[in-house]
Amino acid sequence: MIPVVDLRAEYLAVKAEIDAAVQRVLESGWYILGKEVAAFEAEFAAWCGVSAAVGVGNGTDALHIALRACGIGPGDEVITVAHTAVATAAAIALTGATPVFVDIDPATYTLDPERLTGAITPRTKAVIPVHLYGHPADLGKILPIAREAGLRVIEDCAQAHGAEWQGKRVGSIGDLACFSFYPTKNLGALGDGGAIVGNDPALLERVRLLREYGWKPENRYISEIEGMNSRLDEMQAAILRVKLAHLDGWNAHRRRLAAVYAAHLPNSVVKPVQRPGCRHVYHLYVIRSPQRDRLREKLRAAGVATGIHYPVPVHQQAAYGHLSPVSLPVTEQAAGEILSLPMHTTLSEEQIERVCVAVSEFGIRAS
Ligand SMILES: Cc1ncc(COP(=O)(O)O)c(C=O)c1O
Repeated sequence: MIPVVDLRAEYLAVKAEIDAAVQRVLESGWYILGKEVAAFEAEFAAWCGVSAAVGVGNGTDALHIALRACGIGPGDEVITVAHTAVATAAAIALTGATPVFVDIDPATYTLDPERLTGAITPRTKAVIPVHLYGHPADLGKILPIAREAGLRVIEDCAQAHGAEWQGKRVGSIGDLACFSFYPTKNLGALGDGGAIVGNDPALLERVRLLREYGWKPENRYISEIEGMNSRLDEMQAAILRVKLAHLDGWNAHRRRLAAVYAAHLPNSVVKPVQRPGCRHVYHLYVIRSPQRDRLREKLRAAGVATGIHYPVPVHQQAAYGHLSPVSLPVTEQAAGEILSLPMHTTLSEEQIERVCVAVSEFGIRAS
């Protein structure tokens, strides 16, 4: 079976370096928020092109903390998409604010800027564009609308480490940006992890306070503000430092694999696009077919695993359906047609060609 992701293979590719990093931490006697986290934060900030990064427990906490650092809480509204990991909406709801969902662009699956203005109310405080699957959201249109309305822009970069918009890495553009290092991500820990990055010293200072009970490092045990506990640990930071050094190469490999897919997939399926001025990093390689479920079954029989990211849009899930009783036709249609093909750093071009043959044999014309 060709798997959608292969975490063990990724570990084995850099095993010696990771084992050495883990051993270094084990012997250091310091396991939470220490030298490895500080070094990773500096290296990751430089890599993103921002002034600072703050390591936290996971990507959901990163979003939650970023929102709270921007002063968002009960009574506020935050605009985002329903075609995303539920984490984006969960983080908004955790602050006490209300997620407001808008529809997506059918080609990139990211927030449709044409829907943004109509969703803004006097209670709207922020917008979270999600750079889904590794493709940047349409920041060229989203940013001016948000600025005009006085909204904060918090980028959800959980699926887009190294994606670029107008030559800048995503994460360096909004007021704050949030990353997940969940193991399957382009930069994945061997456990949970996340980070908030940005350039605004005041916001970053609040982020640091919120990460650990509102404490200042020089004044531990005294809470300046009501914070939480969401710390990146030394082991994950040391592992992330190893993997960060390989990330540009891994992203280049993902892009090569995507080019092989684009060359060999039949026109009976809709392929991902890369908009002008954008650099896609193919966290997921998502195609579309009106015959998605039959195609998926055929691929499984041919030894090709696939995924669906995501099968039920957030506004149609029991937990969040009551919040924004909207109809999102583009989102709803996409959910029934999308299919994630195998995409990971240890896949070969030959394996991609095998996947393409299996898709071609299915032979359904796109409608
Ligand atoms: C778009 C998006 N946002 C947020 C998250 C949350 O990250 P985590 O799983 O690390 O909490 C994820 C990952 O699952 C994601 O894909």
